[in-house]
Amino acid sequence: MHKTKILGTGMFVPKKVMTNNDLAEVVETNDEWIYERTGIRQRHICSNEGGEFPSDMAYNATLDALKDANLEPEDLDMILFASVTPDMKLPNSASILQTKLGIKNQCACLDIAAACSGFVYGVNMADTMIKTGLMKNVLVVGSEMLSQEVDWKDRRICILFGDGCGVAVVGRSEDESSDGPEILASCLGADGSGKEFFQQTVGGAVQPLTPDIIINREHFMQMKGTEMFKVATRTLAKNAKKVLAMAEMTLDDVDWIVPHQANIRIIETTAKMLGAPMEKVIVNIDKYANTSAATVPMAFHEAIKDGRIKRGDIVLFDAFGAGLTHGATLLRY
Ligand SMILES: CC(C)(COP(=O)(O)OP(=O)(O)OC[C@H]1O[C@@H](n2cnc3c(N)ncnc32)[C@H](O)[C@@H]1OP(=O)(O)O)[C@@H](O)C(=O)NCCC(=O)NCCS
Repeated sequence: MHKTKILGTGMFVPKKVMTNNDLAEVVETNDEWIYERTGIRQRHICSNEGGEFPSDMAYNATLDALKDANLEPEDLDMILFASVTPDMKLPNSASILQTKLGIKNQCACLDIAAACSGFVYGVNMADTMIKTGLMKNVLVVGSEMLSQEVDWKDRRICILFGDGCGVAVVGRSEDESSDGPEILASCLGADGSGKEFFQQTVGGAVQPLTPDIIINREHFMQMKGTEMFKVATRTLAKNAKKVLAMAEMTLDDVDWIVPHQANIRIIETTAKMLGAPMEKVIVNIDKYANTSAATVPMAFHEAIKDGRIKRGDIVLFDAFGAGLTHGATLLRY
């Protein structure tokens, strides 16, 4: 069995920023309500004119991550592309990204549809495949253009989401010392019985898009916020404890928690349930809102680049999302 580690990270957000005040011109809301209930001040929004679609954002973020990892695109054995907003239905976004990166090695390309847990699912899958020797370097992407999927007339949902991308190159760790960088433990799960808490039921095989559906605005994401809130906090706390137990560690051993950025109150409530001080928690929801699969890698990347997360630190990824999917990863960076 090989050891696995994060070799490099990158992120990209579209140029256009939409503040809460900008939103207040579109729906009946205000900065104070949004910030108090969610911790969000602004979000980045992709241009419809191109150059900022999910695979484009991933391309830009990947160039930085590969540089960080000291690798070339050809060194990748697989691309795992987590997104609920792929460029198109076919081909998958991972293959589109492979072409954009100019990769000729026919590396495996797979999209992951696990909503906001997608990146953590990808890291877990990459970890497993590298540990067994099947793959050496796997690019894990979380890239979302949620601005296309929210109803900009529904103030309950459009305030919550933004666009962006975060990536990580996961690879073999050659450092055999007991305190070297390593993915220590991970867990994944899902509870399909909560599917109606967060869903987008049209546009697939069961309910193809019709003009009536579009006129009635039934094709957008729909969420039961209060129900999501309760399940999220319970699940995040449970999974954090689970991976800590797997690695025979306690919260005192953890330097940084990188949670899915859905709502500051979910993050704070989970931290309280775990007994973790907020100083250990990476938060950037104020700048980017909920970017689904991209929140964890974006927050992780930012905290590395600004010097908070350093090599050797123990880091916990903790995510949940529609499905309801969930997952956590514990690693020594
Ligand atoms: C969505 C969320 C912020 C709503 O907060 P809340 O405190 O539950 O608010 P409610 O939905 O109960 O609404 C309270 C009032 O504010 C109003 N309101 C809703 N959205 C508003 C907005 N954007 N601006 C102003 N008022 C708003 C409601 O109409 C309601 O008014 P009423 O009492 O007159 O009916 C919160 O439930 C949440 O964050 N849930 C989790 C969402 C989430 O994380 N999803 C995960 C995705 S992975």
